[in-house]
Amino acid sequence: MTEPTLYPVPGPYAGKTLLDEQGYLEMYRRSLEDSEGFWREQAQRLDWIRPFTQVKDVSFARDDLHIRWFADGTLNVAANCLDRHLAEHGDDTAILWVGDEPGTSREISYRELHSEVCRFANGLKSLGVQRGDVVTIYMPMIPQAAVAMLACARIGAVHSVVFAGFSPEALAGRMDDGQSRVVITANAGRRGGRSVVLKENVDRAIALCKETTVETAVVVNYTDDAVNMQPGRDVDYGELLAAQDEDCPPEEMGAEDPLFILYTSGSTGKPKGVLHSGGGYLTYTSLTHEYVFDYRRGERFWCAADIGWITGHSYIIYGPLANGATTVMYEGVPNYPDVTRVARIVDEHQIDVLYIAPTAIRALMAEGDRPTEGADLSSLRLLGTVGEPINPEAWRWYHRNFGRGQCPIVDTWWQTETGGALLTPLPGATALKPGSATRPFFGIRPALVDNDGNILEGAAEGNLVLLDSWPGQMRTVFGDHQRFADTYFSTFRDMYFTGDGARRDADGYYWITGRVDDVLNVSGHRMGTAELESALVAHPAVAEAAVVGFPHDIKGQGIYVYVTLNSGVEPSEEMHRTLRDWLRSEIGPIATPDVIQWAPGLPKTRSGKIMRRILRKIAADEYDQLGDISTLADPSVVEQLIDNHTRLA
Ligand code: WT7
Repeated sequence: MTEPTLYPVPGPYAGKTLLDEQGYLEMYRRSLEDSEGFWREQAQRLDWIRPFTQVKDVSFARDDLHIRWFADGTLNVAANCLDRHLAEHGDDTAILWVGDEPGTSREISYRELHSEVCRFANGLKSLGVQRGDVVTIYMPMIPQAAVAMLACARIGAVHSVVFAGFSPEALAGRMDDGQSRVVITANAGRRGGRSVVLKENVDRAIALCKETTVETAVVVNYTDDAVNMQPGRDVDYGELLAAQDEDCPPEEMGAEDPLFILYTSGSTGKPKGVLHSGGGYLTYTSLTHEYVFDYRRGERFWCAADIGWITGHSYIIYGPLANGATTVMYEGVPNYPDVTRVARIVDEHQIDVLYIAPTAIRALMAEGDRPTEGADLSSLRLLGTVGEPINPEAWRWYHRNFGRGQCPIVDTWWQTETGGALLTPLPGATALKPGSATRPFFGIRPALVDNDGNILEGAAEGNLVLLDSWPGQMRTVFGDHQRFADTYFSTFRDMYFTGDGARRDADGYYWITGRVDDVLNVSGHRMGTAELESALVAHPAVAEAAVVGFPHDIKGQGIYVYVTLNSGVEPSEEMHRTLRDWLRSEIGPIATPDVIQWAPGLPKTRSGKIMRRILRKIAADEYDQLGDISTLADPSVVEQLIDNHTRLA
């Protein structure tokens, strides 16, 4: 039996969603034809302190690059996420926290969350934090992480959340770049039944900082793990909170004032501080959260991401809370204590919407039907995926096993830079094709261009660009506007270049084919090959290194490392382990290489440029498709590399 390639809107959905197909098409058309009118109206979903009069002020020209939305309006993001829900929905659950250990959970109402955010915001003020200051957050998935983010927003401080899986070195680099003088952390977190130390990493990171002096570390003493508190610098979260008043008027912020920085990897250099501002970002995340998930108040919405990534910012914290939703925050991993955990959480807490990464789906799928065996799952109304292309086989497994063949799946394509989903189905409006992120959201003008920047019409494949701005777009690279222009607006004139390739079919559906630059997507985590390579060559044994991705059944892409050792250093099992551990400690466990291959030489052009195309082909076992290698300075290295590669297998 062949599987269907088109899944129409399921019957029980018809007429029950915010929009049907016709509704989507009309609203989409309006959002382009009268873009200012459309966004003026949509921004009314927020409470503004001073209403804006200007809607949009944007130029994508690389010499005059600026992106401003609702610029003369003022608001407070935390007040929009909390205060305005109190009168009628104060007792609704804001955060449903599910702990790592089965059976542990906690519901926090909007009133309770508001109270703790206000007190912690006052606590930050008492420590001298002022509007505009960058506050680093290095936290496990506990409610205090949300409190920390919202408390910053309340007082106009700019948060910089660093994924708790990053190493002290990586944390220090981010604190340095942000000139951050305050960090919020926990003694340890819990994941998969183990405690993960965090405070020790913070201590080491503070010692490594070169550009900033961290004056204060606020520590949530969450687990029983002993922690070293340095007097004068380290402050206990509980003690700080206990000393504070609950009255904390929200700071009046300009719509374009920065809300947060989040570091992400690109094809060159150090990770970039992607900067998002308040008014546009909250308008966009709130709007997409409502329409993409067809969200209704009272439903339990589970985005199984980490707050260390943009998905967590936009769809665990800001979008859902702006909409008065119940957002699920899960501390642990999808397979602890066993592969039935996700389904058990859905049943136990009667989750309505489940939004997870394809890598998690593939890992569960590898267990056959066991992950959902015996589960009811009838509370689920909608499924979503994000972070990487989903292969049709995994899509169907998810649809059948979690969706019982009835729930639509929204495959949402977006980036740290875009703030929220740009290409996505809407559950009641879009017939689905497994593996396609389908069509653009309101106000989004995607296009495909060839390598010369010519716009391709109709069914085509090319580089994915965006021709116009939307309110959730990043505003700049923190501290380096030139890098913002160079990275995104110089490849193709007057267009935002995503770094992704895509295909558009005859129905106008988009299919993301993956990155066209030197960025890897490993288990939904984005990593620059340049970042990995510079970490490798910093090791004294390494002369040269080249990193490429290769197809990996579960991770999507695996990390394949070619290393040339310094003369006098012999390849060995031990050296292999040393370099593996080195990458883990320089960047974090997510940078653990899948393969390290010793390379006596790397394939280079006569001008010395490494030909990664060849390295990618070898890593993918496609040596018969190497293409033209005659431009190599020394074509014989290729033989050698293939030889070494086949011996690895
Ligand atoms: C890159 C952005 C979106 C938040 C999480 C990742 C890839 C993302 C999809 C999707 C195919 C996807 C792209 C993109 N990507 N979503 N639905 N289908 N690819 O954010 O770390 O900034 O990574 O993830 O390659 O450029 P990020």
